[in-house]
Parts: sequence; C-alpha cells; structure tokens
Amino acid sequence: MNVLITGGAGYIGSHIALSLLQQNHQVIVLDNLCNSSPIALTRVEALSGKKITFHQGDIRRRADLNQVFNQQPIDAVIHMAGLKSVNESLQKPVKYYQNNIAGTLMLLEIMKQHQVNKLIFSSSATVYGVPEKIPLCENCDTGNTTNPYGASKYMVEKIMGEVVDAQPELAITALRYFNPAGAHPSGQIGEHPEGIPNNLLPYLFQVANGQRGNLPVFGDDYETPDGTGVRDYIHVMDLAEGHIQALNHLKPGYRHYNLGTGQGYSVLEIVQMFEQVSGKHVPVDMRARRPGDVAICLSDPGQAKKELGWQATRGLEAMLRDAWRWHTQNPQGYMGSETL
Ligand code: NAD
Ligand code: WQD
Repeated sequence: MNVLITGGAGYIGSHIALSLLQQNHQVIVLDNLCNSSPIALTRVEALSGKKITFHQGDIRRRADLNQVFNQQPIDAVIHMAGLKSVNESLQKPVKYYQNNIAGTLMLLEIMKQHQVNKLIFSSSATVYGVPEKIPLCENCDTGNTTNPYGASKYMVEKIMGEVVDAQPELAITALRYFNPAGAHPSGQIGEHPEGIPNNLLPYLFQVANGQRGNLPVFGDDYETPDGTGVRDYIHVMDLAEGHIQALNHLKPGYRHYNLGTGQGYSVLEIVQMFEQVSGKHVPVDMRARRPGDVAICLSDPGQAKKELGWQATRGLEAMLRDAWRWHTQNPQGYMGSETL
C-alpha cells in the first residue's frame, strides 16, 4: 500500500514509518517539522534500506495536502500530525484547536476530494479525562477532558464518527495510546523533547546523564501501593505494530481501540527499574501533586487483541533499556548529527 503518514517525522511517526517499510509498504510523509527533524527519516531509510517520499508542508494548508495527494496515489493515511503538550495547550488553546482540529478537517476534506477512504488517527487515553473506572475500556465515558489538548482529541474522534455516518465508504480507526515510551532497539530513532521535559521518562534520562539535578516526583500521597502515580507505559515499537494491525483490519465504519499493555507502573517503580537497567542512580525530589494528574491511568487492551489480533509484547525493562540506549547515543537528539 502507499501509506501517507502526516507527522511522520515525529517520535511515534518515525517508528511507524520504519515498521511500514519493513512490511514492504511505500511510505509518504507530510510534516511541517515544527517538532521534529528530517534526520529521523534519513535514519529510518538507513535502517530499512528503503526510501521515503518526504514533503515538508502543513496539514492546515490545502495546497500542501493537494500537492501530496496529486503526486502519487494514496491508499491509506495514518494521521499523526498534531501538537501534544498538555501544558502548552492550556496557555495556547487556539493554537491547539487550529492545529489539531482545523488541520484534521482540512485532511478529511482533501481525502474526500481524492477519494481516499482509509484513515488511522492518533488519539489518546486523554479522551477519557478523569477515569470513570480502572482499567479503562473503550465503552467508558469520554469527553470529560481537563485541557484543550485532550479536548481536541475528543472532538476529532467525535467529528470522525459523524463524518463516517455521512460518508459510509470511509474506514476510520482511532487508536487511543496510553503512555508511549521506549525507542527502536538500534538506538537510531527516539524521542527528544525541546526544553524542560514535561513527561516522566525524558526528564528521568536527563537526570541520569547529569543534565538535571534530580527528578521531581509529583505526589506521594495517591491511593496507589507506594503513593506515586501509576501509568500504562507502552513501547513505541508495540504501538507501531498496533498501527500495522489496525491498517490490516480497516473496514468501512468508525472504530476506536485502546493501545496499552494493561500493566501499570508507579513513578518509583520506574525509577527503580531504570536504576537496575542503566546502573545509574537517580536522585528524587518529592513534590506536591501536579495539577490535573490522576492517581492511576490503565488500559483494558482486550478489544484490540480480540478484533485486531494485536497485543503489546515488550515490557518496561525493554522500554527503559531501548530509550536509554537512544538517549546515550544521541544526548542532543538529532542535533549535531549528519545533515540531509
Ligand atoms: P511528535 O511531536 O514527535 O510528532 C508529531 C509530528 O507532527 C511532528 O513531527 C510535527 O512536526 C508534526 N506536525 C505538527 N503539526 C503539524 C502540522 N500542522 N502539519 C504537519 N505536521 C505537523 O509527537 P508524537 O509523540 O510522535 O505524537 C504523534 C501523535 O500521537 C500526535 O498526534 C499526538 O497527539 C499523539 N499522541 C502522542 C502521545 C505521546 O505521549 N507521545 C500520546 C497519545 C497520543
Ligand atoms: C507520568 C507520571 C506524573 C514528570 C501525558 C499526557 C497524556 C499523554 C501521555 C498524549 C505521572 C509523574 C511526571 C515528572 C513525575 N500524551 N511525573 N515527575 O501525564 O500520564 O500523560 O503523556 O496524548 O495526554 O497527559 O505522563 O509522563 O507526564 O507523567 O513524577 O517530572 O509521572 O505525575 O504520575 P501523563 P507523564
């Protein structure tokens, strides 16, 4: 298949590009590089021995999308392009709604124009907002979101359901990722957030390599076994394989699936496992709870197993080992690496 990945130069998109190439699909990437580097794609090409067709452009621009869809036939789209910082979305909601919602509307319009009917969408466990119950299954309530980022994912899912009602030939699957982590085992591609990391693992790695003093632990008084927050971390290669399975099972209609492991780890369990894997000591600094955080967020991944034949196979140790390898081999991310 010719598969277009919007946002394909990003953290998760680059891993999906690699998996698709390894399954002999043709990969086309549209990315405006607002949070990524084209070097990720050259690394994916080197790892796979195959070429990617890259277009630098913006999903909000009709002309950019038309150029991509006119240049070659597209069989399916994996729509990853979007902004993802919860914090920033609280400061700049219009920017988030513009990018994540208006950009998706433009994509849906151009897909219709070019009669492309297959779409996989990067959604998030954040659509569940404050969990109604644990573990979260697909028929749990959604929409009780706590920030514009989460609201944008919820609204896009809703829009997609309505668009499918009006265009029954469309096949759309939204994948609700839990907490993506890890990197390709080669250490060649991975995640490198700009500035001070918001998320646990990137922050922990920067403490471990001496870039930051100690790891703030946000809350030790949650109703969890050790008092710290529990999350369902999922290896990015498992996520990538989940997309391939979703693509293989696409059929007309709108569907959504959790992509998680169903296994939760607390902040302190992560620190402990990381210390074992890396041999590094990570000093922690107990702080107050971070506003907006919940105690536990955990998936029931059963529906994806039943209907897509997919389940995560990599555990926490592999996530930490692979991400740490990427981090130590690329302490500045793709910066300072070879140019295109
Ligand atoms: P990322 O920032 O690494 O990748 C997103 C990519 O989209 C970047 O390469 C960026 O340059 C590109 N992009 C953003 N706006 C664009 C636009 N208007 N036009 C073209 N390209 C644009 O993030 P990621 O972690 O790889 O996440 C990918 C998707 O998965 C996002 O939609 C994100 O919301 C979703 N998601 C991520 C997580 C996570 O924790 N990483 C969890 C759940 C869902
Ligand atoms: C994990 C745990 C923190 C940093 C976010 C988004 C979510 C999704 C995934 C996109 C929590 C604790 C963190 C730190 C800490 N993204 N923590 N010290 O908040 O579960 O999910 O990323 O869709 O929408 O909200 O991930 O990695 O920020 O936090 O103690 O420096 O680590 O309190 O318990 P989160 P996270």
